[in-house]
Amino acid sequence: MARVAAPDTRLGAGAGPWRPRRLRRNAALRSLVRETRLSPASLLAPLFVVSGRGRREPIASLPGHSRLSPELAAAQAAELARLGVGGVLLFGIPDAKDPIGRGAADPQGPVPSALRRIRDAGVSLVLAADVCLCEYTSHGHCGVLDGREIDNDATLPLLAEAAVAYADAGADLVAPSAMMDGQVAALRAGLDSAGHLQAAILAYSSKAASALYGPFREAAGSAPSFGDRKGYQMDFANAREALHEMELDLAEGADILMVKPALTSLDVLARARETFNVPLAAYQVSGEMAMIEAAAARGWLDRRAAALECTTAIARAGADVIVTYLAADLARWLAES
Ligand code: PBG
Ligand code: ZN
Repeated sequence: MARVAAPDTRLGAGAGPWRPRRLRRNAALRSLVRETRLSPASLLAPLFVVSGRGRREPIASLPGHSRLSPELAAAQAAELARLGVGGVLLFGIPDAKDPIGRGAADPQGPVPSALRRIRDAGVSLVLAADVCLCEYTSHGHCGVLDGREIDNDATLPLLAEAAVAYADAGADLVAPSAMMDGQVAALRAGLDSAGHLQAAILAYSSKAASALYGPFREAAGSAPSFGDRKGYQMDFANAREALHEMELDLAEGADILMVKPALTSLDVLARARETFNVPLAAYQVSGEMAMIEAAAARGWLDRRAAALECTTAIARAGADVIVTYLAADLARWLAES
């Protein structure tokens, strides 16, 4: 007489053969099936540049970062290149500010000077320059004023002029961050008529009015002296509008579309990935880094693990390019792992 098999009560017997833990058993298996791998080559490191020589001013709100004069910025860029980081994104902090942010387009300003230094040093890095007026205006707003309003259309030629100055100095990418309507079209037209057909636009397309820019504004001395940026930066509650902004920038000629802050825009990034077939970037902003640094300094989380996790999540959501203050550390950690 045939023996009747005892009922199989093992996990999976009734529910199917799946045991996802099979592929988590050891590091080699986990690595084999890992879906997202960060590469230093896809990182852009922000650099803050000031005028003069031999200036290195540590930025209290951004541990490990300093305002650097152009030759020290070039040395830092060389170190980033050695680590395999993809590029640098330059921000300038001028000695003097005025109501229309004239310094932004000064060919002798910190950003063009640093760009020429880095370019002349022959380092293999993508050179990107942020294009905005807020670091250069006495009132700290991203555009010129008409009374207490920001005058969108009067700001556009000033942004275009700054972009041309950066392209003249060797920028591969110019990155308009002022959130003025039509800024990408204005930059494209300005660049083309100056002969810079090859200069690409990294558009801050979906940039939210965020509390997470606080440390940056301390670094750049660019906090608005009155009001806030909610009249031009996006409401962080809006995802459909974010996609619309990206559509507009693409139509205006943007080469890369960026979302910002990264960690609060992962849904936008994932939806953009399915909608657009151009490279996408995400900016892990100063406040995102500050949260990690401050908690790590208190021993509340593991700095390296938290940084790798947050940055990997940004890539997983769809970012091809990540702007991050942690670029140098990430590159070192990725080389070790
Ligand atoms: C300038 C600019 C800002 C950031 C990037 N470009 C500041 C702002 O909009 O206030 C934020 C970057 C960061 O917080 O790391 N418009
Ligand atoms: Zn600005």
